Amino acid sequence: MLDYKKQNQTYLSYIERYMEENCFCNNSEPQAELFEAMRYSLLAGGKRLRPIFVFDFCRMTGGDWKSAAPFAAAIEMVHTYSLIHDDLPCMDNDDYRRGRLTNHKVYGEDMAVLAGDALLTAAFSFLAKAPYSADIRIRAVEVLSHCAGELGMVGGQVLDIKSEQRECTEQEVLDIQSRKTGALIRAACMLGVLAANGTEVQMDAAGNFADHLGLAFQIRDDMLDVIGNAQELGKATGADTDKNTFVRLYGLETCDELVRMHTNKALEYLYLFKDTEFMVETSRFLTTRRV
Ligand code: IPE
Ligand code: IPE
Ligand code: MG
Ligand code: MG
Ligand code: MG
Repeated sequence: MLDYKKQNQTYLSYIERYMEENCFCNNSEPQAELFEAMRYSLLAGGKRLRPIFVFDFCRMTGGDWKSAAPFAAAIEMVHTYSLIHDDLPCMDNDDYRRGRLTNHKVYGEDMAVLAGDALLTAAFSFLAKAPYSADIRIRAVEVLSHCAGELGMVGGQVLDIKSEQRECTEQEVLDIQSRKTGALIRAACMLGVLAANGTEVQMDAAGNFADHLGLAFQIRDDMLDVIGNAQELGKATGADTDKNTFVRLYGLETCDELVRMHTNKALEYLYLFKDTEFMVETSRFLTTRRV
């Protein structure tokens, strides 16, 4: 029988320790403040959902999940950089993230931009250093750069900003969310399959799972902006009133149904993997998450 809490804690402790010990500890460099700013946000907690997806898709594909730690750290670095930049005054202008002051509030805007730049760059060196064949590592670089860049997360952030002053259609909101949030979740699941040298069919299934789960995740994020508690969330609520969110489009009740529907659709793609109980539980937990 699966002990969900224990498995979750095992993954969490592993990625926390891996990043604590392997990421930007070189304080003898003269640019020590940059290292400090990078670690300030990277090691600030957070759900570590994307590393958990890397680990568990690796395990469900039959791989040794611990060996995927460089992939898991890489995706968390890209995610953390996206949050640092998302919080900047020129973007969402937020003061709190992961329960502490945002990066630019502590280190200044200049350092926050540069810490984000450096996290993004370092992510690709972690992919390159992972203990896999050159083919797998090159494919990992391709997947992460596609999902993080102009066709993925950055593209979505652009659509998000550009749509702020007007009402969007359903398709436009889907276009924003699938890129700004969905794409990195897609990368995480696919990197997990790659780390276990899974098949192309499994890569596609992981991508399809992530598309639905990412959508459910962002709908819940938009709901929490309305019904969530800032203390629990570690970030401000009520920040998205001018934004084209799912709540604005459908209302809270329908959003709740959509979260469940997309989560169930996501789960249909897990039949290509083995020992899926943990992923099923994680996905179900996300439908009612408060953080
Ligand atoms: C927040 O992501 C930003 C979105 C993409 C919705 P998370 O909710 O995963 O943030 P952390 O990593 O737990 O802080
Ligand atoms: C941010 O979306 C997505 C990325 C950082 C790419 P939001 O702006 O909704 O995230 P929160 O609510 O600030 O965490
Ligand atoms: Mg934003
Ligand atoms: Mg934001
Ligand atoms: Mg949000």
